[in-house]
Amino acid sequence: MDAKERILELREQLHRHNHNYYVLNSPTISDIDFDMMMRELQDLEAANPDMYDPNSPTLRVGSDITKEFRQVQHKYPMLSLGNTYSKEEVSEFFDRVQRALNEDFEICCELKFDGTSISLTYVNGRLERAVTRGDGEKGDDVTANVKTIRSVPLVLSGSDYPAEFEIRGEVLMPWVVFERLNEERAAAGEQLFANPRNAASGTLKLQDSSVVAKRSLDAYLYFLLGESLPADGHYENLEKAKQWGFRISETTCKCRTIDEVFAFIDKMDAERKNLPFATDGIVLKVNSLRQQKNLGYTAKSPRWAIAYKFQAESALTRLNEVTYQVGRTGVVTPVANLDPVQLSGTVVRRASLHNADIIEKFDLHIGDMVYVEKGGEIIPKITGVDTAARFMLGEKVLFVKTCPECGTPLVRYEGEAAHYCPNDTSCPPQIKGKIEHFVSREAMNIDSIGPETVEQLYNYGLIRNIADIYTLNSEDLMFLPRMGEKSALNIVNAVNASLQVPFERVLFALGIRFVGATVAKRLARAFGNIDALMAASFDELKAVDEIGERIAGAVRAFFAKEDNLLLVENLRKAGLKFMVEEETGVEKSDILKGMSIVISGVFSHHSRDEYKEMIERNGGKNVGSVSKSTSFILAGENMGPSKLEKAQKAGVRLVSEDEFLRMIEGVKS
Ligand code: IVH
Repeated sequence: MDAKERILELREQLHRHNHNYYVLNSPTISDIDFDMMMRELQDLEAANPDMYDPNSPTLRVGSDITKEFRQVQHKYPMLSLGNTYSKEEVSEFFDRVQRALNEDFEICCELKFDGTSISLTYVNGRLERAVTRGDGEKGDDVTANVKTIRSVPLVLSGSDYPAEFEIRGEVLMPWVVFERLNEERAAAGEQLFANPRNAASGTLKLQDSSVVAKRSLDAYLYFLLGESLPADGHYENLEKAKQWGFRISETTCKCRTIDEVFAFIDKMDAERKNLPFATDGIVLKVNSLRQQKNLGYTAKSPRWAIAYKFQAESALTRLNEVTYQVGRTGVVTPVANLDPVQLSGTVVRRASLHNADIIEKFDLHIGDMVYVEKGGEIIPKITGVDTAARFMLGEKVLFVKTCPECGTPLVRYEGEAAHYCPNDTSCPPQIKGKIEHFVSREAMNIDSIGPETVEQLYNYGLIRNIADIYTLNSEDLMFLPRMGEKSALNIVNAVNASLQVPFERVLFALGIRFVGATVAKRLARAFGNIDALMAASFDELKAVDEIGERIAGAVRAFFAKEDNLLLVENLRKAGLKFMVEEETGVEKSDILKGMSIVISGVFSHHSRDEYKEMIERNGGKNVGSVSKSTSFILAGENMGPSKLEKAQKAGVRLVSEDEFLRMIEGVKS
């Protein structure tokens, strides 16, 4: 067998094994054998570039950077569904359909998956395009990202599929993946995703599909569109789609009577708690496509379908203790510690009690049976107390009067529900939180100091405030547990590199209340430097576009504190930027004028965004995909195989990170 035949054979086999593994959950070969076949195919494809196939199983790993998503018009608009929370309205829907059709009909009952919708177009059995819902009329072309979803077939099985059709469904992030992702984000000091739906849609919109590939998304399909579908029945078409390789929920079923529909609703309401992904209701669809056509559409949604939404899931459990968390800004949040209870796919042990008023409203006592709800958000909350279940009255929960971390009496600002610990200069979680914020990516981007390192540095007394970061040296660091020479050097280097961070981000990094990244940018531009900002009166601050009383007050309060003035002075001495640099002056040239440059791979000196900026500052243009007119590829480590291949084909030169930096060195300040 020659290489080309072997490539085709391997592709066919790997598609099948993927389907067995990811859709049917019943692999027929070991992971090692699978990996070996994949590697063999990768090698053969690299040696035979003329056999390039965008749907090869090797390309699932994702690699290309799709700069901005192309907008694509939907052939058929993506509509939404009429919603109801009441069974009565479901009954009314059933009666309406009955009256309008005046003949027998079946209802296809499905889960309502709580993810983000996607429309896939297949031409001659191959995935052509994947587009998000967008505004319903047009969406983003996220094909490269969707290809990384293992349960989406790139090439269909069998041969009885229509030559061209669309299939729509929901991209989901399973609970376990969601939780792991949020744990990783918490450890990296990144903002958490509120729920798997946001995580799934956020992931689909990532520019780098190799990151998407790592997030293990899944996709359930529930709607076929096309001129020549196999059957008149929606359910029957889904059965066919299952045979072609799509993941179709096993729970989907057909009902003839309203009682059967209600039985399905009740069954799924109970069972959804055990599903590995989020659902928020069920969808009822008239099964016959002919009857669907007769019923037609209103302006927004089909008359032949309705969504019944489940009530937010809640669980009853015992309150054992109330503890208090002190955040970066000093807000003290009461946290209910509970008997572990299963809720929407996860075990809940802690829930937010928000503030003192809520505790008072529920008249909470230790040992009370409380209702916990997830309400679509990741942090569960207490929504009520079952006073009838209170057979013995425990100790009444009284909001703490002093900070649980540093003992300072708490304060409550007028008009605010929260209590604050005012000791922002020496209350440990506030300092640690401020340092975490200071080093975070959007601020000083000292990414080698994560929350765990902050904890260590603080506990060992190496840092007591933000400015201490600039006194760290590798000798001190190396003696910390789990810290090697390399990590210590990384930290020192990252701290030094942060001296180049522009003023607006330094200002954001200071962590002034209400001064987020955008406000910091405005203030930096308006005042130009820290001295002018520190000297600005309340009215002068308020005169800045979009700066109101709240922000102006917070800025004044920050600079009124002796400790903060000292902090600024120490940071200034350390060499941080405290004035806006003339944009025109900074490292600007036209050394890359007229050049189209593709960025690919992983870099070690600067982030991808920073390289993009450098290219633009030096007159070049950053483009997403390789073509004959590409001037060169700024190539980091692990450049994607497809890009490499395209570069070779088009004869485009690869420029390494160091080479690139040398290229623009002459113009760097
Ligand atoms: S059918 C014209 N079926 O719910 C009807 N939608 O509110 C097309 N969804 O945008 C949609 N599970 O994202 C349908 N089994 C299911 C669904 C489902 C979840 C989502 C979908 C749609 C939204 C409609």
